Amino acid sequence: MMVNVGLAQMMPKIGDFEHNHDELERMLKMASESNVDVLVIPELANSGYAFDSLDEARSLAEDVPHGTFCRTLADWTNSGRLAVAGICENSADGLYNSGVIFGDGRLMVTYRKVHLFGKEKEWFVAGSKEPPVVEFHGHRYGVMVCFDWVFPEMSRILAVKGAQIILHPANLVLPFAQNAMITRSIENRVFTATANRVGEERGLGFSGMSQVTSPKGDVLLRMPTEGSSLACCDVDLTLADNKMITQQNDVLRDRRPDIYKRLTEPT
Ligand code: ACM
Repeated sequence: MMVNVGLAQMMPKIGDFEHNHDELERMLKMASESNVDVLVIPELANSGYAFDSLDEARSLAEDVPHGTFCRTLADWTNSGRLAVAGICENSADGLYNSGVIFGDGRLMVTYRKVHLFGKEKEWFVAGSKEPPVVEFHGHRYGVMVCFDWVFPEMSRILAVKGAQIILHPANLVLPFAQNAMITRSIENRVFTATANRVGEERGLGFSGMSQVTSPKGDVLLRMPTEGSSLACCDVDLTLADNKMITQQNDVLRDRRPDIYKRLTEPT
């Protein structure tokens, strides 16, 4: 069974929730018209990215799953769909840069970004749990957020947990991630779906080029560097169950964790 994976390449505006929510609704409408089954929405899509104070970040954060942005997203998934979005999350112990997955109208899981990038460290509490995999209608979906791409341990954990595709909300600033995600696909034999934002905010530029990659490292879809739009493609997620990179080599079974113990020690 093919799954139609959609990427919402958006341009949120910092401090303008109404604009961001309108953008979300526009994307959801296009996704419905394109029969998208699984939709990925960029990081911090409810709030924008480049906060100038903790107070500003706080004023733009919302509760998960009861905030307005989350509720709109949850409603869209009512008819058998899955969606993940990056959310500026308000919680009792501070703000989190979160990826929230909704399926069949309900919150399935919240992943709180573990690797905070640059000034994010001033606004957010770092997540302290490993990235999750959810099972939905017979397939397995992993999630990580933006800068997690630079830590290959994250996508490896998702692959070891059985993810067939890594859903990846992003606000990419450095120019490397789109290419790095091809490698993440090859070394784990998984699909990846990165939804990146576009535009500029307070001097920070975002690179677009949202993309879907395959377990063989093919780029199935890559969007332009500019412009807010939706694109989608059909994928057979079961291809990610074959971990053989040669007839003799399984990328998970051939690992040597006995040699890697150093990786679990702090540097
Ligand atoms: C990033 O993690 N938003 C670069």
